[in-house]
Amino acid sequence: MLQDSFGRRFYYLRLSVTDVCNFRCNYCLPDGFQCDKSIPEFLSLKEIGVYAKAFAALGTEKIRLTGGEPALRRELPEIIAQCKQTEGIKKVAVTTNGYNLPSVIDSWHDAGLDALNVSIDSLNPANFKKITGHDRLHKVLVGIERAQSLGVRSIKINAVLLKKDNASEIDQFIEWLKNKPVTLRFIELMQTGDNEAFFKKQHLSGALIIEELINKGWQPIIKAHDAGPAEEYWHPDFQGRVGVIRPYSKDFCKSCNRLRISALGKLHLCLFANQGIDLREYAQAGDAEQLSKAITGLIMNKTPSHLLHQGHSGMIQHLSMLGG
Ligand code: GTP
Ligand code: 5AD
Ligand code: SF4
Repeated sequence: MLQDSFGRRFYYLRLSVTDVCNFRCNYCLPDGFQCDKSIPEFLSLKEIGVYAKAFAALGTEKIRLTGGEPALRRELPEIIAQCKQTEGIKKVAVTTNGYNLPSVIDSWHDAGLDALNVSIDSLNPANFKKITGHDRLHKVLVGIERAQSLGVRSIKINAVLLKKDNASEIDQFIEWLKNKPVTLRFIELMQTGDNEAFFKKQHLSGALIIEELINKGWQPIIKAHDAGPAEEYWHPDFQGRVGVIRPYSKDFCKSCNRLRISALGKLHLCLFANQGIDLREYAQAGDAEQLSKAITGLIMNKTPSHLLHQGHSGMIQHLSMLGG
């Protein structure tokens, strides 16, 4: 079992399969941002298999595939299936912007997908377009309905809280959950290298939402050991649940249970760790055993917390580089 020097255990791997994204969310990628077309090759299916095996041998039970936009990898269904078939891996999840969800969700489900997280930063089509740069809300919603009808067990919606762009929609989002059996998470905007001015204008604390939920009879849900960082609430009159992700809250990092592998095979001990540690040579050599050994040694360098509380913007330029 993988454990760091602060007693935290790691059941959960976030594996990025590409850092390219086809959306331009205003909080993530700066205006006019061009993806680097000359980037070296992303991890192959075979290399991903070696990472999955190495982490599974260390007790990892869940793999979340992220991006950029993971659906831009044509072999995503094969990647899902391979992760799912790795001994020890119980759950495979994908985080997506959902741009093409109605066309691809069947193949992900057939491949063994257990859980799906989809970004929806506004339920109003025009505002969705303003935030993401794409007039795609309807398609994303159709994709989510399809995922529900296929029986995908866990469906979560991510809405990044933006003071000026969607804070006025919080009640509408919650109302939407009356008859929608999904978990909607409000995510506090995180400051990155690329969004400093934006962050100053738009950051909104999730604390007020929690206060309001409690006043309205929402009740906290106890977390599972492989759960993410959201504080979740349920209400008897609502089919859906609400979560709030507050990376700036005091004890956020105390329950950290995840590690990250970038699309180029670097190990990131934290979303805001300085830089990744290149482990690709082990994957290229197909040596899961040595890869496990390397990870076990490196885990001791994991710091107790990110430094966001101290006004540190993190070293990461934008979250599409590492899948959040
Ligand atoms: P699940 O519980 O598996 O659904 O995971 P999740 O909520 O972590 O997954 P998702 O990919 O939907 O991420 C939601 C938000 O949480 C994104 O904004 C992530 O950047 C953020 N997040 C996830 N893990 C961490 C973390 O370790 N540190 C920080 N600061 N943010 C995180
Ligand atoms: N702060 C908070 N959440 C972010 N995401 C992307 N960039 C940021 C940021 N700066 C979210 C996306 C997606 C998830 C993977 O991360 O909206 O839902
Ligand atoms: Fe938006 Fe996610 Fe793409 Fe960033 S990586 S632009 S948050 S869809």
